[in-house]
Amino acid sequence: MASTPPTPSEPVAEASIRIDSHLDGSAERSLADDVLDGLTRPFKELPPKHFYDARGAELFDRICELPEYYPTRAERAILEEQAAAIAELTGAVELVELGSGTAAKTRVLLDALHSAGTLRRYVPVDVTESMVRDSAEELASEYPGLSVHGVIGDFERHLDLVPEACGPRIVAFLGGTIGNFPPGSRRRFLRKIARLLGPEDHLLMGTDLVKDPRVLEAAYDDAQGVTAEFNRNVLRVLNRELQADFDPDDFDHVALFDPENEWIEMRLRARREHTTLVRDLNLPVHFDVGEELRTEISAKFTPERLEGDLSAAGLELVSWLTDRDALFALTLSRTSTG
Ligand code: AVJ
Repeated sequence: MASTPPTPSEPVAEASIRIDSHLDGSAERSLADDVLDGLTRPFKELPPKHFYDARGAELFDRICELPEYYPTRAERAILEEQAAAIAELTGAVELVELGSGTAAKTRVLLDALHSAGTLRRYVPVDVTESMVRDSAEELASEYPGLSVHGVIGDFERHLDLVPEACGPRIVAFLGGTIGNFPPGSRRRFLRKIARLLGPEDHLLMGTDLVKDPRVLEAAYDDAQGVTAEFNRNVLRVLNRELQADFDPDDFDHVALFDPENEWIEMRLRARREHTTLVRDLNLPVHFDVGEELRTEISAKFTPERLEGDLSAAGLELVSWLTDRDALFALTLSRTSTG
């Protein structure tokens, strides 16, 4: 040790933390671009990534606790039941986590890799700097010898900044967030993930499954109205970041299962005809009464749909793990050979 610690009694583990930041103000640009693209067309639309400012992240945490919102609990149950088997099957020395957030479910996996004696490195990738820094520090002190290489960036744009693997790796993309991508870009994104995988590596992905539309719609339209507030939060983000003048109370929350596309859509429906000004863009946006703005799609999967997407990205399914009620699936896949 180069310096003398104040309390020299405990041996200090050789843990190391490195954080790379790739945010450069392009986040605001992407919001402005998304507004210019999405609010000037006949069917208005905004991508769901703009929900997650501090308040949005907090609302999402509350959604995960709601009785109607089963995906978080189901995925956690699968992880708890299968983490040891996943550690054994993959022999992973490192875990790369896309959209790591508070790393709540990560510990289940890290515990299993630690018990298997293989764990060396954790690579969280997230846009929220404080979450990457806080979880890096906590995990480095919880797991002796673990190195953490955090990447602060948007997993849609900064995947090439994930460091080279230091041995067999798991790339985890949990929570069902893959469902937010429309079909074409979903496959493109999976191809980008596939490029992070060598022949010894695995993708561990969470996907919500097709089921009774009433169960799906309740999960996105809870009785307490938390999801409705989460949905309207994107308007508050626009007000703050782009000096817009939306009144969130001018919009109703709508959540519908589209059986043809097998996805949930969330929309905001204007309660009255009005025009809002997005001041920073000098952009007036007109809403007819009843006009809708689509804020999210959340695709639900069948095994066939998932295998189709994976194989289009050069990946093959290795194992399909589900909870006892078959609400949600965790899958392991790897790059297909030949
Ligand atoms: C974080 C994208 C997985 O689609 O279920 C929860 C977001 N939206 N309630 C999902 C969400 C409304 C969530 N994902």
